[in-house]
Amino acid sequence: MKSVYEKQQMNIVIAGHVDHGKSTIVGRLLADTGSLPQGKLEQVRESCKRNSKPFEYAFLIDALKDEQAQGITIDSARVFFKTDKRDYIIIDAPGHIEFLKNMVTGASRAEAALLVIDAEEGVQENSRRHGYMLSMLGIKKIAVLISKMDLVSYKQEIFDNITNNYRDFLTKIDIEPTCFIPVSGMAGDNIAGLNSNMPWYSGETVIETLDRFTKDEILLNKPLRMPVQDVYKFTRFGDKRRLIAGTIATGSIQRGDQLVFYPSGKKGRIASIEGFNRKPATTVQAGYATAFTLEEQIYITRGEIACKENEREPKVTTRLRVNLFWMSREPLIKKKDYLLKIGTAKITARVEEIIRIIDASDLSSAPQKERIERHDVAECIFKLNQAAAFDLTEEIVETGRFVIVDNFEIGGGGIIREALEDKQTWVRDKVFLRNYKWEKSIIAQEDRAERYNQKSTLILITGQKDTGKKTIAKKLEEHLFNNGRIVYFLGIGNVLYGVDADIKGKDNDRREHIRRLSEIAHILLDAGIILIVTAIELTQEDLELIKTALGPDKIETIWIGENITTDIVYDLHIDNIDNLDDTVGIIKERLQNQGIIFKP
Ligand code: GTP
Ligand code: MG
Repeated sequence: MKSVYEKQQMNIVIAGHVDHGKSTIVGRLLADTGSLPQGKLEQVRESCKRNSKPFEYAFLIDALKDEQAQGITIDSARVFFKTDKRDYIIIDAPGHIEFLKNMVTGASRAEAALLVIDAEEGVQENSRRHGYMLSMLGIKKIAVLISKMDLVSYKQEIFDNITNNYRDFLTKIDIEPTCFIPVSGMAGDNIAGLNSNMPWYSGETVIETLDRFTKDEILLNKPLRMPVQDVYKFTRFGDKRRLIAGTIATGSIQRGDQLVFYPSGKKGRIASIEGFNRKPATTVQAGYATAFTLEEQIYITRGEIACKENEREPKVTTRLRVNLFWMSREPLIKKKDYLLKIGTAKITARVEEIIRIIDASDLSSAPQKERIERHDVAECIFKLNQAAAFDLTEEIVETGRFVIVDNFEIGGGGIIREALEDKQTWVRDKVFLRNYKWEKSIIAQEDRAERYNQKSTLILITGQKDTGKKTIAKKLEEHLFNNGRIVYFLGIGNVLYGVDADIKGKDNDRREHIRRLSEIAHILLDAGIILIVTAIELTQEDLELIKTALGPDKIETIWIGENITTDIVYDLHIDNIDNLDDTVGIIKERLQNQGIIFKP
């Protein structure tokens, strides 16, 4: 546990139009809080005098940068200072692009912001743009500093005008600033102490305002979120345990905790927490990498998020409304596959809708834009090809942001604002409950796989009517059976007149029919079987329903016949089926290559 005496830390970003006085204010903050190394201020003043140039507080930062090698107060964009209450890290964003990039990729995270506006110049393009970006990033604690008040003779009227103007703008983007403070970085007015130059101002100083910002709820106190990084099997003979490894993003775990993994909804109790090169721990908290075993042998994979049973659960869906910032040279377009990284999950996704692209400087939005260009900020809807688990940024930022990978590079990123319903929502709830209640066998999945010499899989054979799907399916079943595989062919009619007898012919029966088929497949696959199912013209929506019920990993889809008449994303297409043995051979090769059955 961290000591309660350890001082609180807060990350602040300082933003604003070029030359509006940001660095001067930061220099002042350092000087007036006594955060500078001994003699630094005098040294810089002295060197200015020697070079006969006027002293600038901003120089302090440069001077500290030079000392970086000696490990003192600064690195390239971060400055440290402290008050009695807490330690601050100020991110002096070199440019808004870098800042946004760091924020969306999670390289840095600011909890609060100082937005600087020059009293003489008033609200400029970047004053608005930066304000917009803060709102987009979900930063709600914002103090607006009207700087260089000495240049306008400390006139209240000027302060009031800028304040009113900017407040109007902020209202439009849903930001309610904590306060507006008239300051002079140069003279030190209202930074650390109030100044009689502005007797009309009776508010707080910058320091007081910063200290009054409340910390985001600390990570430890949030619900548990541990994106699963890897699942290892113990290699010792006969040891069936799996080690589930990851870094705890929020919350904590303890031996004996009942966990639920999302998106699958599978649950398990922590049997042991393993230490790497150290003693096994009984509890681990946010910020630490860990690995644990479960009492039950459940099958989960990288990308799932471990949560606790009695805490708020994450969202699970395939449709997300997001705010994003695009950085890649190539525009972000519709109808193209991208990889979305959320936590440790990597999921193929497409832009379903571009709601708006915002010119952040004047808030005009370009209507009906079809693409998101470099450096655009946009609100859009993503459709994933399998469900993801996540949180809304405003609830848990650690699992509420994503990056988009395009051609192996980070093309952009953003924050998740809303989990939207998708067509599988109704099934997902049933599957969660089924997984949650599932009575687990003592026999591990690998043991069955080892005994049967195969990986249980659903082989979906689809295509147009009368293309010989059933003939191929039966032949494949026979072939695999003769090779010693545990295999079963299930004609869709077998289900229709039996399991589905009660819903046959009713409205909406197709969805329910496919759900039931998937549940049967789930049982047979759990038993270790290779199941072959034929169905006419399966669509992508059908497939997503099956994936929702069965999990995304254990399905092979094969389209038979020349014409592909649906939008399904298949694994294998066989157009020439004149020779039955060849067709079966092609399928068999695919199964071998996928490691479902093994080469002789
Ligand atoms: P960039 O980092 O380049 O965007 O600039 P900045 O916002 O960090 O501004 P900086 O603090 O470097 O100040 C820009 C200029 O304004 C410098 O020449 C400062 O001397 C001057 N300046 C800053 N604050 C004050 C102030 O309170 N009063 C007066 N008179 N001049 C100021
Ligand atoms: Mg600067």
